This record gives sequence, C-alpha cells and structure tokens, in this order.
Amino acid sequence: MSALAGKCILVTGAARRVGAAIARRLHADGADIVIHCRTNLAEARSLATMLNAGRDGSAAVVRQDLADTAALPGLIDAAIGNFGRLDALVNNASSFFPTPLQTLTEEQWDDLAASNLKAPLFLSRAAAPELRRRSGAIVNLVDIHAERPLRDHAAYCAAKAGLVGLTRALALDLAPEVRVNGVAPGPIEWPDAPGSGIAPQEQARILATTPLAREGGAEAIAETVHFLIASASFVTGQIVNVDGGRSVHL
Ligand SMILES: NC(=O)c1ccc[n+]([C@@H]2O[C@H](COP(=O)([O-])OP(=O)(O)OC[C@H]3O[C@@H](n4cnc5c(N)ncnc54)[C@H](OP(=O)(O)O)[C@@H]3O)[C@@H](O)[C@H]2O)c1
Repeated sequence: MSALAGKCILVTGAARRVGAAIARRLHADGADIVIHCRTNLAEARSLATMLNAGRDGSAAVVRQDLADTAALPGLIDAAIGNFGRLDALVNNASSFFPTPLQTLTEEQWDDLAASNLKAPLFLSRAAAPELRRRSGAIVNLVDIHAERPLRDHAAYCAAKAGLVGLTRALALDLAPEVRVNGVAPGPIEWPDAPGSGIAPQEQARILATTPLAREGGAEAIAETVHFLIASASFVTGQIVNVDGGRSVHL
C-alpha cells in the first residue's frame, strides 16, 4: 500500500528542477499532486501529463505569481478544489540572485523576500484549517546559507533565515495537528536562472569543500521531503541539511 495514496500535496515552483523531482517522488508513492508554477507553464503541463499518464487524474497545474499576496488564499482554494482535499504543502518556489550591498534595491529585496519568506507564511496560513483537518504537514525548502551566509547574497540569505524561523514558529503554532519542517539543500543543482550562475572555479571550490565531493541531485532533496511528509510522524520544527556534509565546513 502506498503511504500517500488518497492524499493531495501542493508543491510550489514544481515545473522543473528540485520542485519537479519532489512532485515525481511524492506522486510515485501515491499522492495526487498540484503542480504550482509561475512562468514555466509548458513544463508544468508536461509534468502533469506525464504523471497523469502513470495514474489518470492524479496531477493538476495551478499558476500564480507568489509575490501577489492577496491571491494566495485563492491558490490554496484552487489546490483543494482540484482533489477535494489538501494534506501537505511544500514551499519550494524561490528566487535567487546576488545582491551586493552597494547596489541592492528595494525591488530586489521585495522579490527575494516574497518567494522565500512572505509567500510561505501566507500560503501556510491559508492552508492551515484544511491541514489541521487532515493532520497534515508543511515542508519548507530553506538553504544551508540561512545559517552561514553566502557572500553578496544578503537579501536571499536573510529571507531563508526568516524561513527557518518561520518553520520553527509554525511548528509551534500549528501543533499538534500539523507538522512543519524544513530541508536545507547544499550543492544540489547549480542555479540556471539568468544572473544567478556560479562560475566554474567557484563550483570546483564548493565541491572541494563538500565532504561527499559531488552535487547531490534533486532526487536527494525529494527523498528527504518524502520522508518528512510520509514517515517522520514524530518530527516537527526541524531543519534537515541535505548538503553532502558541506555545512560542517562552512
Ligand atoms: N538547487 C540548489 O542547489 C539549491 C541550493 C540551496 C537551496 N535550494 C532551495 O531549494 C528549492 C528548489 O531549488 P531550485 O534550484 O530547484 O529552485 P529554482 O529552480 O531556482 O526555482 C524554483 C521555481 O521557483 C519559482 N518562483 C520563483 N519566484 C517565484 C514567484 N515570485 N512566484 C512563483 N514562483 C516563483 C519559479 O517558477 P517558474 O519557473 O514557473 O517561474 C522556479 O521555477 C528553492 O527553495 C531553493 O532556494 C536549492
């Protein structure tokens, strides 16, 4: 029997990369998946088609810019409307780019804070009544650089540090019905958004200071998210580093 059969899970930013791997892993264990996207609608739809080919009527797509806070309750309603329930929320969507202090703008701060901190809070609040009813779970994707900052990324690091704090605060506020945990990736997949790239020499330096000496791959994150939702019934308020040991060195 699949652990997640009959359950419905919303994964934000799930059209590609880590979010898509999380959606595939949870779906493989029986969950119905609501794939959220913003710009990558074609990739989100093709992922839904693939999941539906495996199990008819098991995946749907919702599209929303998470910076529009007023629209977030509607996004949760749409997710619930697809399968008649919501058992877990995975706050994966994130913007990521450098913000050197001297050139940092308020617009950049708003962008980074919106996806990495504010939307997870307001999505969680909107989902809370349904998640309480279902004894559900929330998993927030944070970053090892929430604890030990990445140079020239103050706004992103502060937003992720806020998300770590939010994870612990919501674990308290939503207990005992809803468990809230975080996953902190290290080097998993090099960023590919315009302006967010990491130079090859820097990639080599990062891997040289990672005890397991390689990129983890999106599946390593997906496996941990699956564990936190499907198995970790006595775990809440925790952050799991999935980083090949890199946080030991930082
Ligand atoms: N990859 C890594 O090695 C790594 C390392 C540390 C932490 N993480 C964390 O792990 C998670 C997944 O990483 P990733 O590299 O797969 O992420 P990503 O590809 O950089 O971003 C995931 C998705 O977030 C969505 N997004 C960004 N801003 C949004 C907004 N305002 N509204 C709605 N959607 C928005 C985008 O959706 P659209 O494409 O549809 O616009 C994007 O595809 C993130 O939270 C990230 O911070 C990853």
